[in-house]
Amino acid sequence: MRRCQVAIIGAGPSGLLLGALLHKAGIDAIILERQSRDYVLARIRAGVLEQGTVGLLQQAGVGARLQREGLVHEGFALTYNGQSLRIDIADLTDGKTVTVYGQTEVTRDLMTHRDTIGATAIYEAKEVSLEGFDGGSPRVFYSKDGLRHEIACDFIAGCDGFHGVSRASVPDEALSIFERVYPFGWLGVLADVPPCSHELIYAGHERGFALCSMRSLTRSRYYIQCSLDDRVENWSDQAFWDELRRRLDPEAAEAIVTGPSIEKSIAPLRSFVAEPLRFGRMFLVGDAAHIVPPTGAKGLNLAASDVHYLSEALIEFYGERSSAGIDDYSRRALARIWKAERFSWSLTGLLHQFDLMTPFERRMQEAEFVYLQGSRNARASLAENYVGLPF
Ligand code: APR
Ligand code: PHB
Repeated sequence: MRRCQVAIIGAGPSGLLLGALLHKAGIDAIILERQSRDYVLARIRAGVLEQGTVGLLQQAGVGARLQREGLVHEGFALTYNGQSLRIDIADLTDGKTVTVYGQTEVTRDLMTHRDTIGATAIYEAKEVSLEGFDGGSPRVFYSKDGLRHEIACDFIAGCDGFHGVSRASVPDEALSIFERVYPFGWLGVLADVPPCSHELIYAGHERGFALCSMRSLTRSRYYIQCSLDDRVENWSDQAFWDELRRRLDPEAAEAIVTGPSIEKSIAPLRSFVAEPLRFGRMFLVGDAAHIVPPTGAKGLNLAASDVHYLSEALIEFYGERSSAGIDDYSRRALARIWKAERFSWSLTGLLHQFDLMTPFERRMQEAEFVYLQGSRNARASLAENYVGLPF
């Protein structure tokens, strides 16, 4: 049997970032991941980092490539039925910005860092099970290469995403679940073509939402709202580019450079929160605890703020023998989670077409857009949320 202070379940961004911050504070953690490294690195997710997330990555010692290659954005465009409105986030938030840098790259940097510091991460750990977190001596079991292993620890950090074992190990009656499943998905395409604009474009359109994003100055990421029963095979590259152009303002549509897709996938949209986030000596972190729809790119950033609160709490526990931080983790993290849930839910509602929308609801979307056009306060509120509320 092995021993460590914190057993981290999941080597996504939450688990790896928590591992890096704990290591820096001299706290010994083991990360257990169900998939292989390559599998984890093949997942394509959003790519907009709040300043707080960038700061946390720097604090963890993994900010160097991000600093060199990340694209700092001072604004983005919101368009509605072809009319464009720039949200000058730097001006509206006293100089705050966001950094465009793919989540896959964040994960890669964190993995490389873990190798460099020689900290343990066990990939392809199967049949992970958690026991005893209600009492004083939690245990984690897993299988690898046909053998069953056991880890004894002080705490378990459940960083294992929406489908992980951590939340599933909590009795139903101890959890409250709040959920909204949206009646549409996003069809995403990655292509090695220059972006159509130097900033992101979030486009509301009567044919459905579209988003122009990027990974670099030579690689673009585009999305269009699609129906839930749609299939990637239904969309040739040409059909995708044609539909994307129809939903954009004329200038952006004109500037689209097409090319072969290097990835194409459909993702469903969901808002989800589980409460509370602490069960004795086990904590839920990141997607294991909450999901936001991708509109506004809050998923990874919210995982980072959970990690910030939990790492501080554990450092305080080991450094000062005080459990005040761990006792307060759930409350602190949830207070920020609900604000980000509100923001991504409202931006999703503003920009998407819903099947059963009444003419009144359509006018409400339009009125919201017109309000944003005319009111600096409205834009400032949008910008304040987009750059990320303080931790
Ligand atoms: N045992 C071990 N590992 C597991 C298990 C399990 N039973 N179940 C899931 N995992 C692993 C997954 O394979 C995955 O690598 O846990 C990891 C969870 O990673 P993510 O799903 O990426 O979640 P998280 O690290 O919280 O990242 C936050 O931000 O942009 C959003 O949703 C996006 O992934 C993103 C998230
Ligand atoms: C992305 O680049 O994939 C992306 C950007 C912004 C979002 C969602 C996704 O709101």
